[in-house]
Amino acid sequence: MRNGWVWGRAPATIANVGPGFDVFALAIHGPRDEVAIRPADKDSLAVEGVGAAGLPTKFSENTAGIVIDALRAATGIFQPLQVRVRKGVPPSRGLGSSAASCAGAALAYLKAFPSSSSLGAEGFIHAAVAGEAAVSGRHYDNVAAALLGGFVTVASTQPLILQRVTVSSRVALAIAIPDILLKTADMRRVLPDLVPLRDAVGNIGRAATLALALSRGDASLAGRCLEDRIAEPARASFLSGFAEAKAAALGAGATGFAISGSGSTVFGFAPNQAIAGSAANAMCGAFKALGTHATPLVTTADNSVPLGAVVSKAGPRFSIVAA
Ligand code: HSE
Repeated sequence: MRNGWVWGRAPATIANVGPGFDVFALAIHGPRDEVAIRPADKDSLAVEGVGAAGLPTKFSENTAGIVIDALRAATGIFQPLQVRVRKGVPPSRGLGSSAASCAGAALAYLKAFPSSSSLGAEGFIHAAVAGEAAVSGRHYDNVAAALLGGFVTVASTQPLILQRVTVSSRVALAIAIPDILLKTADMRRVLPDLVPLRDAVGNIGRAATLALALSRGDASLAGRCLEDRIAEPARASFLSGFAEAKAAALGAGATGFAISGSGSTVFGFAPNQAIAGSAANAMCGAFKALGTHATPLVTTADNSVPLGAVVSKAGPRFSIVAA
């Protein structure tokens, strides 16, 4: 704590991870958000960093402020706060930007008010999702991975059943972040209400196998299971360069390809950093050929556990240990 500031830090996340729409997410090393809070006479909020100009600074409209209000309502601790949001995760790119701010705010709050751990992990995570729900629809994947790190599965939200596994660095990630802004709320509106049974069955098979592959650190098998027949067909047309980037990634040795979250970022798995680098550059080259700048990122899963959560031996539940 410096000058009374308490910081919460949370990573970028790749939601869906192919076939796991609203169910899977993977925390990654690289961009992250930092949220600082300190006691004040009245609430205030400031945003700086990547994409800050487009984000609300009204306390009740910013995801960080919304999460703090949700935690206040849940804990009964109504101390006014000065909040600083330092954005590292670019907004509207499918990298869990709003979730990183939600998680950062929740973690800072937990540090500042340790008694809020009495909410239990379930209450705490529900409160952290409040910010996400307000701006981009209620989905737990990104926030869960931003809080718990590694690869997270959301089996149910009521009751909350989450699992997380550490992902081996043998699974390299090739990522391209194009200069295309896609709002999650918009990209959720284009989704179908119904999906054909064969597509649902295919997704279930790939999702189950993908989870096993990631838990074993098998980049080849994980990549072969990345195809999504639920959200991706509805969203790909909004992502100019999707087909070209996919062909480029696979041509450069990526073992599979998918949209990250609701886009515009795309990614693939690779068996090592060198191939991931070639694939990331190839994807960016494909976007460039179409006139769109894209930023490459070669990375691995971030297996740190920002929430300091531990899986209790009693079952699929988490208890909070303030980091
Ligand atoms: N599961 C969410 C979606 C993630 O695809 O809409 C958004 O980043």
